[in-house]
Amino acid sequence: MIAAEIRAKSFGPAQVLRDIALRVETGEVLAILGPSGIGKSTLLRIVAGIDGDFDGAVVRPERLAMVFQEPTLLPWRTAAENLTLVHPDLGREGALAALARVGIGDKADLFPRQLSLGQQRRVALARAFAGDPEGLILDEPFASLDPDTAEEMLALTERLIAEARPATLFVTHSEAEARRLATRILRLAGRPATIAPDKEGR
Ligand SMILES: Nc1ncnc2c1ncn2[C@@H]1O[C@H](COP(=O)(O)OP(=O)(O)OP(=O)(O)O)[C@@H](O)[C@H]1O
Ligand SMILES: [Mg+2]
Repeated sequence: MIAAEIRAKSFGPAQVLRDIALRVETGEVLAILGPSGIGKSTLLRIVAGIDGDFDGAVVRPERLAMVFQEPTLLPWRTAAENLTLVHPDLGREGALAALARVGIGDKADLFPRQLSLGQQRRVALARAFAGDPEGLILDEPFASLDPDTAEEMLALTERLIAEARPATLFVTHSEAEARRLATRILRLAGRPATIAPDKEGR
């Protein structure tokens, strides 16, 4: 379970978020929709515990994984090493299996610069799921991919979530992606941003 109550978040004099309360149960996927710059990544960083400078409180599970908006792989480590660095218990065999699960078992020994963006995003996804997460935070993991690759990644993520059943918080600006992956959708609006009342009562 992930729960957050953010009364206020500011950067200097500029308040970005206000009065946001959310709760995601195990196995549930909550999508957060909102335009660029509204504060989605800021919200996720607070929930993940990366940004502790806010007014409010967050409850998060012990095993929490995050897929950032950028793949955030270490450039001087291979795909497999990027996994074992975070999850040493995996060993090489475990890392190869985790990469195979996301369809890039043959790329284990390549460095990030030798991988396409889609393949780098797959490594990031494999890294997130390799720790058997109880909580999962996804920040636009399908951005900047062509429609077919994005669709493949979406189906893959859907499958991995169905297997691991973490409490998932999924940020996107794509209505279609949100509807596809999420059990529930919240919309951010306003400045400072808060949860918009839902027109459709979802
Ligand atoms: N470290 C920071 N210092 C100052 N301002 C920041 C910082 N991080 C984010 N902001 C500001 O907070 C606002 C929200 O940024 P954020 O990255 O959360 O938006 P977003 O909804 O994730 O956008 P996108 O869809 O483009 O990723 C922006 O106005 C941004 O400039
Ligand atoms: Mg963002």
